[in-house]
Amino acid sequence: MKINQNFCGLRESYLFSTIGKKVRAYKAENPSADVILLGIGDATRPLAPAVIEAMHRAVDELSDVKTFRGYPPEYGNDFLVGKINEFDFASRGISLCDDEIFLSDGAKSDTGNIGDIFSSDNVVAVCDPVYPVYVDTNVMGGRAGELAADGRFSKLVYLPCTADRDFLPELPGTHADIIYLCFPNNPTGAAAPRRELKRWVDYALKEGSVILFDAAYEAFVTEDDIPRSIYEIEGAKACAIEFRSFSKTAGFTGVRCAYTVVPKELTVGGVSLNKLWARRQATKFNGVSYVTQRGAEAVYSPEGRAQTLDIINYYRGNASVIAGGLSMAGFRLWGGVNSPYIWLKTPDGLSSWDFFDLLLTEINVVGTPGSGFGPAGEGYFRLTAFGDADRTAEAVERITRRFS
Ligand code: MLT
Repeated sequence: MKINQNFCGLRESYLFSTIGKKVRAYKAENPSADVILLGIGDATRPLAPAVIEAMHRAVDELSDVKTFRGYPPEYGNDFLVGKINEFDFASRGISLCDDEIFLSDGAKSDTGNIGDIFSSDNVVAVCDPVYPVYVDTNVMGGRAGELAADGRFSKLVYLPCTADRDFLPELPGTHADIIYLCFPNNPTGAAAPRRELKRWVDYALKEGSVILFDAAYEAFVTEDDIPRSIYEIEGAKACAIEFRSFSKTAGFTGVRCAYTVVPKELTVGGVSLNKLWARRQATKFNGVSYVTQRGAEAVYSPEGRAQTLDIINYYRGNASVIAGGLSMAGFRLWGGVNSPYIWLKTPDGLSSWDFFDLLLTEINVVGTPGSGFGPAGEGYFRLTAFGDADRTAEAVERITRRFS
């Protein structure tokens, strides 16, 4: 009997589990502390009324033998996939077939599971800092190599994202087979303009690489020059898979619904990745629940769209309160526009974790240490705009008071 040894190469704990553990320990020792959580990007506003009503109706359908439904189709019901295609793509001039869209329970699962269809000897490029799921799942899949003392895995190609390029990665100096890109970016909040994405698509087409494009935060885009989908770039359907989610768009972090686009044009060595992903999902996934899909469908109704936009605007308000307040207090920061994340330089040369501990213990505010997203995140810190507005303003006030 042998285990998958790749798991032994992982860091001991997943970033957000480590933070959760630290916060729970602090609260246990300080039960009266009024801790404000601006760490994990988890929705806090209730679901839109249109979504709730649709879910209630769906529950009623399941209570009647005449309208009861069992297993959902593993790739999603037509009523939802059709709406996704119409509103998220066709309305932006992107032509997709419904069977290029695969429903799932989350972009986290899909960006992790997609590795199943790629060989373990592919060269993988990731941004640094990066959403840890991309790295950890490649460690599990045997593509990352050994963890070195500098915090990097030996076989991954790291694309440093630094302040001098507004946290946009440069093209790799070497060949990469698989490239993870996330825009608007988690964790830095950077948004990639059209010309930047075009450089990546051109690179991938030239090198025969596949871009794994995580667009989970596209609902936060406000500026015209920032594409919401990589398929807005010519040629992208031949080189990119896109991940989308209802989590950050419509507050489905607890409900769970997302989708992945695998265009039929995308082939590797003559093999269709669409077919491989369809095969993988049919075997390992049993679809998104009917009630959830009806809720997601309602996001596209006229009321659902208006109500969802109100929620996004609420979070955008938080982002400007954080960015405005902290820049007034003298912090250097990025993001918060086209993005729910604010990325700031830690003050007084503090390390990311020292700043985390200081905020937690001195003013009871929780954020995410930049170094948890990769070595290039050291000296940076992430705050999320997904909190309650009053609590967010209170957190900004506490930080400002402490550092001015
Ligand atoms: C984050 O805080 O980075 C995200 O909420 C994590 C996720 O979406 O899984």
